[in-house]
Amino acid sequence: MEHQTFGPTTREVAVIGQGTWYLDRSDRAAALAALRRGLDLGMTHIDTAELYGAAENIAGEALAGRRDEAFLVSKVVPDHASRRGTLTACERSLARLGTDALDCYLLHWPGAHALEDTVAAFEQLQREGKIRSWGVSNFDVDDLEAVLAIAGEGRLACNQVLYHLSERAIEHAVIPWCERHGVAVVGYSPFGHGRFPGPRTRGGRVLQEIADAHGATPRQVALRFLVRRPSLFAIPKASSPEHAADNAGAGDLQLSAAELALIDEAFPLGPRPRSLPML
Ligand SMILES: NC(=O)c1ccc[n+]([C@@H]2O[C@H](COP(=O)([O-])OP(=O)(O)OC[C@H]3O[C@@H](n4cnc5c(N)ncnc54)[C@H](OP(=O)(O)O)[C@@H]3O)[C@@H](O)[C@H]2O)c1
Repeated sequence: MEHQTFGPTTREVAVIGQGTWYLDRSDRAAALAALRRGLDLGMTHIDTAELYGAAENIAGEALAGRRDEAFLVSKVVPDHASRRGTLTACERSLARLGTDALDCYLLHWPGAHALEDTVAAFEQLQREGKIRSWGVSNFDVDDLEAVLAIAGEGRLACNQVLYHLSERAIEHAVIPWCERHGVAVVGYSPFGHGRFPGPRTRGGRVLQEIADAHGATPRQVALRFLVRRPSLFAIPKASSPEHAADNAGAGDLQLSAAELALIDEAFPLGPRPRSLPML
Protein backbone atom coordinates (compact mmCIF):
# COMPACT_ATOMS: atom_id res chain seq x y z
CA MET A 1 0.00 0.00 0.00
CA GLU A 2 1.48 3.31 -1.06
CA HIS A 3 1.55 6.12 1.51
CA GLN A 4 1.79 9.87 1.02
CA THR A 5 2.30 12.72 3.45
CA PHE A 6 -1.10 13.98 4.58
CA GLY A 7 -1.06 17.71 3.92
CA PRO A 8 0.96 19.69 6.46
CA THR A 9 0.90 16.86 9.01
CA THR A 10 3.88 14.58 9.48
CA ARG A 11 1.69 11.51 8.95
CA GLU A 12 2.25 9.13 6.07
CA VAL A 13 -1.25 7.99 5.14
CA ALA A 14 -2.41 5.15 2.88
CA VAL A 15 -3.48 6.54 -0.49
CA ILE A 16 -6.49 4.19 -0.54
CA GLY A 17 -8.62 4.30 2.59
CA GLN A 18 -12.06 3.14 3.62
CA GLY A 19 -15.35 5.04 3.71
CA THR A 20 -18.13 4.08 6.10
CA TRP A 21 -21.26 5.89 4.86
CA TYR A 22 -24.24 3.48 4.87
CA LEU A 23 -22.09 0.75 6.40
CA ASP A 24 -24.64 0.57 9.22
CA ARG A 25 -27.26 -0.51 6.67
CA SER A 26 -25.21 -3.56 5.66
CA ASP A 27 -24.90 -6.87 7.41
CA ARG A 28 -22.91 -5.91 10.52
CA ALA A 29 -20.61 -8.94 10.51
CA ALA A 30 -19.78 -8.40 6.84
CA ALA A 31 -19.18 -4.68 7.40
CA LEU A 32 -16.80 -5.41 10.29
CA ALA A 33 -15.05 -8.08 8.26
CA ALA A 34 -14.69 -5.63 5.36
CA LEU A 35 -13.11 -2.92 7.49
CA ARG A 36 -10.78 -5.41 9.19
CA ARG A 37 -9.74 -7.01 5.89
CA GLY A 38 -9.09 -3.53 4.55
CA LEU A 39 -6.94 -2.73 7.58
CA ASP A 40 -5.03 -6.00 7.11
CA LEU A 41 -4.30 -4.93 3.54
CA GLY A 42 -3.13 -1.46 4.54
CA MET A 43 -6.27 0.63 3.97
CA THR A 44 -5.73 2.28 7.32
CA HIS A 45 -7.32 5.66 6.52
CA ILE A 46 -10.82 5.22 7.97
CA ASP A 47 -13.35 7.91 7.15
CA THR A 48 -16.50 8.34 9.17
CA ALA A 49 -18.79 11.12 10.44
CA GLU A 50 -21.35 11.84 13.12
CA LEU A 51 -23.83 12.06 10.21
CA TYR A 52 -23.24 8.38 9.43
CA GLY A 53 -24.87 7.37 12.72
CA ALA A 54 -24.05 3.84 13.76
CA ALA A 55 -21.24 3.66 11.20
CA GLU A 56 -19.05 5.34 13.83
CA ASN A 57 -19.81 2.49 16.24
CA ILE A 58 -18.95 -0.07 13.55
CA ALA A 59 -15.66 1.69 12.77
CA GLY A 60 -14.88 1.75 16.51
CA GLU A 61 -15.61 -1.95 16.81
CA ALA A 62 -13.46 -2.77 13.77
CA LEU A 63 -10.60 -0.80 15.32
CA ALA A 64 -10.83 -2.41 18.76
CA GLY A 65 -7.34 -3.48 19.75
CA ARG A 66 -5.77 -1.98 16.64
CA ARG A 67 -6.54 1.74 16.88
CA ASP A 68 -2.84 2.60 16.44
CA GLU A 69 -2.83 1.17 12.91
CA ALA A 70 -5.42 3.63 11.70
CA PHE A 71 -5.60 7.21 10.52
CA LEU A 72 -9.08 7.84 11.86
CA VAL A 73 -11.16 10.73 10.53
CA SER A 74 -14.59 11.94 11.59
CA LYS A 75 -16.68 15.02 10.86
CA VAL A 76 -18.92 17.49 12.60
CA VAL A 77 -22.17 18.43 10.82
CA PRO A 78 -22.42 22.17 10.10
CA ASP A 79 -25.47 22.59 12.38
CA HIS A 80 -23.32 21.54 15.34
CA ALA A 81 -20.26 23.54 14.34
CA SER A 82 -20.50 26.39 16.83
CA ARG A 83 -17.53 26.59 19.19
CA ARG A 84 -19.24 24.67 22.00
CA GLY A 85 -21.20 22.44 19.60
CA THR A 86 -18.03 21.30 17.86
CA LEU A 87 -16.41 20.39 21.18
CA THR A 88 -19.39 18.30 22.30
CA ALA A 89 -19.89 16.69 18.86
CA CYS A 90 -16.26 15.60 18.97
CA GLU A 91 -16.73 14.06 22.43
CA ARG A 92 -19.74 12.10 21.14
CA SER A 93 -17.79 10.83 18.13
CA LEU A 94 -14.86 9.82 20.34
CA ALA A 95 -17.26 7.86 22.57
CA ARG A 96 -18.92 6.10 19.62
CA LEU A 97 -15.52 5.30 18.14
CA GLY A 98 -14.14 4.12 21.49
CA THR A 99 -10.99 6.21 21.16
CA ASP A 100 -9.26 9.08 22.97
CA ALA A 101 -8.32 11.00 19.84
CA LEU A 102 -9.07 11.40 16.15
CA ASP A 103 -6.27 11.71 13.63
CA CYS A 104 -8.23 14.33 11.74
CA TYR A 105 -11.56 16.08 12.40
CA LEU A 106 -13.46 17.78 9.61
CA LEU A 107 -16.27 20.28 9.13
CA HIS A 108 -18.59 18.25 6.87
CA TRP A 109 -19.57 21.17 4.62
CA PRO A 110 -19.73 24.96 4.91
CA GLY A 111 -22.60 26.01 7.16
CA ALA A 112 -24.15 28.91 9.01
CA HIS A 113 -21.95 28.98 12.12
CA ALA A 114 -19.02 31.40 11.98
CA LEU A 115 -15.99 29.62 10.59
CA GLU A 116 -13.90 31.44 13.20
CA ASP A 117 -15.78 29.55 15.93
CA THR A 118 -15.38 26.16 14.28
CA VAL A 119 -11.68 26.76 13.72
CA ALA A 120 -11.26 27.93 17.33
CA ALA A 121 -12.91 24.71 18.52
CA PHE A 122 -10.68 22.60 16.25
CA GLU A 123 -7.58 24.37 17.58
CA GLN A 124 -8.75 23.84 21.16
CA LEU A 125 -9.42 20.14 20.52
CA GLN A 126 -5.96 19.81 19.02
CA ARG A 127 -4.34 21.55 22.02
CA GLU A 128 -6.24 19.16 24.31
CA GLY A 129 -4.98 16.15 22.35
CA LYS A 130 -8.47 15.08 21.26
CA ILE A 131 -7.67 15.55 17.59
CA ARG A 132 -4.27 15.42 15.91
CA SER A 133 -5.20 17.60 12.94
CA TRP A 134 -8.28 19.19 11.40
CA GLY A 135 -9.69 19.86 7.98
CA VAL A 136 -12.78 20.62 5.95
CA SER A 137 -15.03 18.91 3.44
CA ASN A 138 -16.92 20.17 0.39
CA PHE A 139 -15.05 23.49 0.48
CA ASP A 140 -14.64 25.43 -2.75
CA VAL A 141 -11.77 27.85 -3.27
CA ASP A 142 -13.58 30.86 -1.70
CA ASP A 143 -14.33 28.82 1.42
CA LEU A 144 -10.74 27.58 1.54
CA GLU A 145 -9.47 31.15 1.31
CA ALA A 146 -11.68 32.02 4.28
CA VAL A 147 -10.19 29.19 6.36
CA LEU A 148 -6.69 30.25 5.40
CA ALA A 149 -7.40 33.85 6.43
CA ILE A 150 -8.57 32.63 9.86
CA ALA A 151 -6.08 29.86 10.60
CA GLY A 152 -2.99 30.81 8.58
CA GLU A 153 -0.80 28.50 6.51
CA GLY A 154 -0.01 25.01 7.69
CA ARG A 155 -3.08 24.45 9.85
CA LEU A 156 -5.64 23.03 7.39
CA ALA A 157 -4.82 19.34 6.87
CA CYS A 158 -7.25 18.37 4.13
CA ASN A 159 -10.27 19.13 2.02
CA GLN A 160 -12.47 16.08 1.45
CA VAL A 161 -14.38 16.47 -1.81
CA LEU A 162 -16.41 14.58 -4.40
CA TYR A 163 -14.05 13.02 -6.94
CA HIS A 164 -14.62 10.19 -9.38
CA LEU A 165 -14.01 9.56 -13.05
CA SER A 166 -17.28 11.18 -14.13
CA GLU A 167 -16.95 14.11 -11.70
CA ARG A 168 -13.59 15.79 -11.98
CA ALA A 169 -14.65 19.36 -11.18
CA ILE A 170 -12.10 19.72 -8.36
CA GLU A 171 -9.31 19.55 -10.93
CA HIS A 172 -10.17 23.07 -12.16
CA ALA A 173 -9.34 25.03 -9.02
CA VAL A 174 -9.64 23.05 -5.78
CA ILE A 175 -6.73 20.68 -6.37
CA PRO A 176 -4.41 23.47 -7.60
CA TRP A 177 -5.34 25.61 -4.56
CA CYS A 178 -4.75 22.72 -2.15
CA GLU A 179 -1.43 21.87 -3.75
CA ARG A 180 -0.28 25.50 -3.53
CA HIS A 181 -1.09 25.51 0.18
CA GLY A 182 0.08 21.99 1.08
CA VAL A 183 -3.42 20.69 1.85
CA ALA A 184 -4.30 17.03 1.24
CA VAL A 185 -7.21 16.34 -1.12
CA VAL A 186 -9.32 13.36 -0.08
CA GLY A 187 -11.62 12.21 -2.87
CA TYR A 188 -14.91 10.81 -1.66
CA SER A 189 -17.37 8.58 -3.56
CA PRO A 190 -14.53 7.42 -5.86
CA PHE A 191 -16.94 4.93 -7.49
CA GLY A 192 -19.62 7.58 -7.97
CA HIS A 193 -21.54 6.33 -4.91
CA GLY A 194 -22.42 3.07 -6.70
CA ARG A 195 -22.50 4.39 -10.26
CA PHE A 196 -19.31 2.89 -11.58
CA PRO A 197 -18.88 2.88 -15.40
CA GLY A 198 -20.31 -0.35 -16.79
CA PRO A 199 -18.23 -2.76 -18.88
CA ARG A 200 -20.16 -1.92 -22.06
CA THR A 201 -19.50 1.81 -21.91
CA ARG A 202 -16.54 3.31 -23.73
CA GLY A 203 -14.94 4.34 -20.45
CA GLY A 204 -15.61 0.94 -18.95
CA ARG A 205 -13.84 -0.74 -21.86
CA VAL A 206 -10.81 1.53 -21.47
CA LEU A 207 -10.61 0.67 -17.76
CA GLN A 208 -10.93 -3.06 -18.53
CA GLU A 209 -8.16 -2.99 -21.17
CA ILE A 210 -5.76 -1.24 -18.81
CA ALA A 211 -6.76 -3.57 -15.99
CA ASP A 212 -6.13 -6.63 -18.17
CA ALA A 213 -2.62 -5.39 -18.96
CA HIS A 214 -1.85 -5.33 -15.21
CA GLY A 215 -3.82 -8.34 -14.02
CA ALA A 216 -5.90 -5.79 -12.14
CA THR A 217 -9.59 -4.80 -12.02
CA PRO A 218 -11.30 -1.75 -13.55
CA ARG A 219 -12.01 -0.37 -10.07
CA GLN A 220 -8.36 -0.66 -9.11
CA VAL A 221 -7.42 1.24 -12.27
CA ALA A 222 -10.00 3.94 -11.48
CA LEU A 223 -8.74 4.33 -7.91
CA ARG A 224 -5.16 4.57 -9.07
CA PHE A 225 -6.08 7.35 -11.51
CA LEU A 226 -7.77 9.22 -8.65
CA VAL A 227 -4.62 9.13 -6.49
CA ARG A 228 -2.16 9.86 -9.31
CA ARG A 229 -0.79 13.03 -7.68
CA PRO A 230 1.06 13.34 -4.33
CA SER A 231 -1.78 15.46 -2.89
CA LEU A 232 -4.52 12.90 -3.60
CA PHE A 233 -6.17 10.20 -1.46
CA ALA A 234 -9.31 8.11 -2.08
CA ILE A 235 -11.76 6.54 0.37
CA PRO A 236 -13.94 3.91 -1.32
CA LYS A 237 -16.59 2.27 0.81
CA ALA A 238 -16.98 -1.51 0.72
CA SER A 239 -19.34 -3.65 2.73
CA SER A 240 -17.77 -7.02 2.01
CA PRO A 241 -14.22 -8.29 2.57
CA GLU A 242 -14.03 -9.21 -1.13
CA HIS A 243 -14.76 -5.65 -2.21
CA ALA A 244 -12.33 -4.30 0.38
CA ALA A 245 -9.58 -6.61 -0.89
CA ASP A 246 -10.27 -5.56 -4.48
CA ASN A 247 -9.99 -1.89 -3.54
CA ALA A 248 -6.79 -2.41 -1.56
CA GLY A 249 -5.25 -3.86 -4.72
CA ALA A 250 -5.10 -0.33 -6.11
CA GLY A 251 -2.61 0.61 -3.42
CA ASP A 252 0.42 -0.69 -5.28
CA LEU A 253 -0.77 -0.52 -8.88
CA GLN A 254 1.39 1.64 -11.13
CA LEU A 255 -0.02 3.12 -14.34
CA SER A 256 2.08 4.59 -17.13
CA ALA A 257 1.67 8.17 -18.31
CA ALA A 258 0.14 6.77 -21.51
CA GLU A 259 -2.44 4.79 -19.54
CA LEU A 260 -3.32 7.82 -17.41
CA ALA A 261 -3.76 9.79 -20.62
CA LEU A 262 -6.16 7.16 -22.01
CA ILE A 263 -8.29 7.40 -18.86
CA ASP A 264 -8.16 11.19 -19.01
CA GLU A 265 -9.48 11.06 -22.57
CA ALA A 266 -12.20 8.50 -21.83
CA PHE A 267 -13.52 10.51 -18.85
CA PRO A 268 -13.15 14.15 -19.92
CA LEU A 269 -12.76 16.83 -17.29
CA GLY A 270 -15.67 18.98 -18.50
CA PRO A 271 -16.18 22.70 -17.88
CA ARG A 272 -15.77 24.29 -14.46
CA PRO A 273 -19.18 24.32 -12.70
CA ARG A 274 -20.52 27.46 -10.98
CA SER A 275 -20.42 25.74 -7.60
CA LEU A 276 -18.55 22.77 -6.26
CA PRO A 277 -20.52 19.55 -6.77
CA MET A 278 -21.22 17.51 -3.65
CA LEU A 279 -23.17 14.38 -2.93
N1 LIG B 1 -17.54 14.37 2.94
C1 LIG B 1 -18.67 14.07 2.34
O1 LIG B 1 -19.56 14.91 2.14
C2 LIG B 1 -18.86 12.67 1.83
C3 LIG B 1 -19.91 12.40 0.95
C4 LIG B 1 -20.03 11.10 0.47
C5 LIG B 1 -19.14 10.12 0.86
N2 LIG B 1 -18.13 10.41 1.75
C6 LIG B 1 -17.19 9.37 2.21
O2 LIG B 1 -16.67 8.69 1.08
C7 LIG B 1 -16.92 7.30 1.22
C8 LIG B 1 -17.06 6.62 -0.13
O3 LIG B 1 -18.10 7.16 -0.89
P1 LIG B 1 -19.52 6.45 -1.09
O4 LIG B 1 -19.78 5.55 0.03
O5 LIG B 1 -20.48 7.56 -1.36
O6 LIG B 1 -19.43 5.63 -2.41
P2 LIG B 1 -18.31 4.86 -3.28
O7 LIG B 1 -17.17 4.45 -2.43
O8 LIG B 1 -18.07 5.70 -4.48
O9 LIG B 1 -19.14 3.60 -3.75
C9 LIG B 1 -19.61 2.64 -2.85
C10 LIG B 1 -20.32 1.58 -3.67
O10 LIG B 1 -19.33 0.87 -4.44
C11 LIG B 1 -19.47 -0.52 -4.15
N3 LIG B 1 -18.15 -1.11 -4.16
C12 LIG B 1 -17.08 -0.78 -3.39
N4 LIG B 1 -16.02 -1.52 -3.70
C13 LIG B 1 -16.42 -2.37 -4.67
C14 LIG B 1 -15.76 -3.39 -5.40
N5 LIG B 1 -14.47 -3.65 -5.21
N6 LIG B 1 -16.48 -4.08 -6.34
C15 LIG B 1 -17.80 -3.80 -6.56
N7 LIG B 1 -18.46 -2.82 -5.90
C16 LIG B 1 -17.78 -2.12 -4.96
C17 LIG B 1 -20.10 -0.60 -2.79
O11 LIG B 1 -20.75 -1.83 -2.69
P3 LIG B 1 -20.73 -2.66 -1.31
O12 LIG B 1 -21.19 -1.72 -0.25
O13 LIG B 1 -21.68 -3.77 -1.63
O14 LIG B 1 -19.33 -3.16 -1.10
C18 LIG B 1 -21.06 0.59 -2.83
O15 LIG B 1 -22.24 0.24 -3.52
C19 LIG B 1 -18.18 7.27 2.09
O16 LIG B 1 -18.44 5.98 2.61
C20 LIG B 1 -17.86 8.32 3.09
O17 LIG B 1 -16.98 7.81 4.07
C21 LIG B 1 -17.97 11.68 2.22
